[in-house]
Amino acid sequence: KYINIASIPGDGIGPEVMNEGYKVLKALEELHGGLSFERNEFDWNCKRYLEAGEMMPEDGLEILKDYDAILFGAVGAPEVPDHISVWELILPIRRAFQQYVNLRPIKLLKGIESPLRYKSVEDIDFTVIRENTEGEYSNSGGKLHENTPHETVIQNSVFTRYGTERIVKYAFEYAKQKGKNKLSVATKSNAMNYSMPFWDDIVREISKDYPSIPFHLYHIDALAAFFVLKPEEFEVVVASNLFGDILTDLGAAVAGGIGIAPSGNINPEGTYPSMFEPIHGSAPDIAGKGIANPVAQIWSISLMLDHFGYFELAEVVLNAIESVLMKGDNLTPDLGGNASTTELADQIVNKILEG
Ligand code: NAI
Ligand code: MG
Repeated sequence: KYINIASIPGDGIGPEVMNEGYKVLKALEELHGGLSFERNEFDWNCKRYLEAGEMMPEDGLEILKDYDAILFGAVGAPEVPDHISVWELILPIRRAFQQYVNLRPIKLLKGIESPLRYKSVEDIDFTVIRENTEGEYSNSGGKLHENTPHETVIQNSVFTRYGTERIVKYAFEYAKQKGKNKLSVATKSNAMNYSMPFWDDIVREISKDYPSIPFHLYHIDALAAFFVLKPEEFEVVVASNLFGDILTDLGAAVAGGIGIAPSGNINPEGTYPSMFEPIHGSAPDIAGKGIANPVAQIWSISLMLDHFGYFELAEVVLNAIESVLMKGDNLTPDLGGNASTTELADQIVNKILEG
C-alpha cells in the first residue's frame, strides 16, 4: 500500500522537526513491509514569500489535491506578517479541502508531568473535536460610524445547519467508533441567543441516532474551569471554532506543553487530503539551534496512521514516544533536558524499529 504524502516543512523549527518525522516514516516502512510512503516536499514558506511574493504557487491547491495526506511543519517568520503566512497558506488548505474537523488529543503522556501535579495520566486522556471552517471565525462583519464617538465594529458568527450537523455527527460517530461513553459539548446558550441554542438543538437532534452515547452540555466558561479541575470527566469534547481553539490550547498546556501536542485537520469523507501538524508555530526564538522538541511532529504522524486505519502502527509510534519520555534521559530543553532534536528523535525511531 502506497500513501502519497505532500510535505510542507515551512519555517523556523518546522523543517527541523519535519526531518525527524521523515526518519519515523522510514522506520515505519521497515517495520511494516507492505507499507510505503511516497513523499514530495514543497518549499512553501516565508522565505519563498520574500523571494516570490507568494506563500504558495497559484495552482498550489490543485497540486495538493491528489495527495493522500499533507504533513505540515509550521510557518511564520518575523519578516512576514502572520496574517499573510497563515491566511495565505494554512487557512486556504483547511477551507479548500473541507477539513472541517480539527482533531486534537489531550492526553498526558507517560513520562510527562502535567502542571496540574495532582493529576495523572489516567486523568488526562481525551480528544477535542473543533469545528474548523465556520462559526465565530467568519469573514462577515463590518465597521460603522468610523472616526466618531459611536464607532462600532461587528464580527458575525456564522453557523450553518450543514456545517453544524456534520461536526456534531462526526463527534458522536467518533465517540461510538472509539468505544467512548460520553460526549461533552461546549455551548454558551445562556448568553449567545441565536447561535448557541441552534447548536444545542442540533446536538439534541443528532443524539437521537446515538442512544448509547449520552451527551452533556457545558457552558464554555465552566468547561474551561473543568479542564483544569476535573479533566478526568472528559472522553470526547465537541466545540465550535473559537471555543475549540481556546480549549485546545488550554488542553495542550494541561497535558504538558506545546512541544508535544499534535493535531489533525480532517476531511472525513476522504474527498480531499487531510493535514497533520504540530499545534506549535515556527518558534523563531529557538530556530536553528537544533533543540526543538520533535514529539509533536512525530505524534502527528501517529494521528495520520490512525486516519488511514493503521491503528496498531499508530499505537507503536505513541508507545515509542512514551517509553522514551519515561526513560527520561536525552530530553530536549523544553522538557528539562539538554538533548538535541535529533538525539530525542533517534531514540524514538529506534524504539519504533523494535516494534
Ligand atoms: P510558537 O509555538 O512558535 O512558540 C511559542 C513558544 O513555544 C516559544 O517560546 C517556542 O520556543 C516554544 N516552542 C514551540 N514549539 C516548540 C517545540 N517543538 N519545542 C520546544 N519549544 C517549542 O508560537 P509563537 O511564538 O506565538 O509564533 C511564532 C510564529 O509561528 C509566528 O509567526 C506564528 O504566526 C507562527 N505560528 C504558526 C502556526 C502554524 O504553522 N500552524 C501555529 C502557531 C504559530
Ligand atoms: Mg490556537
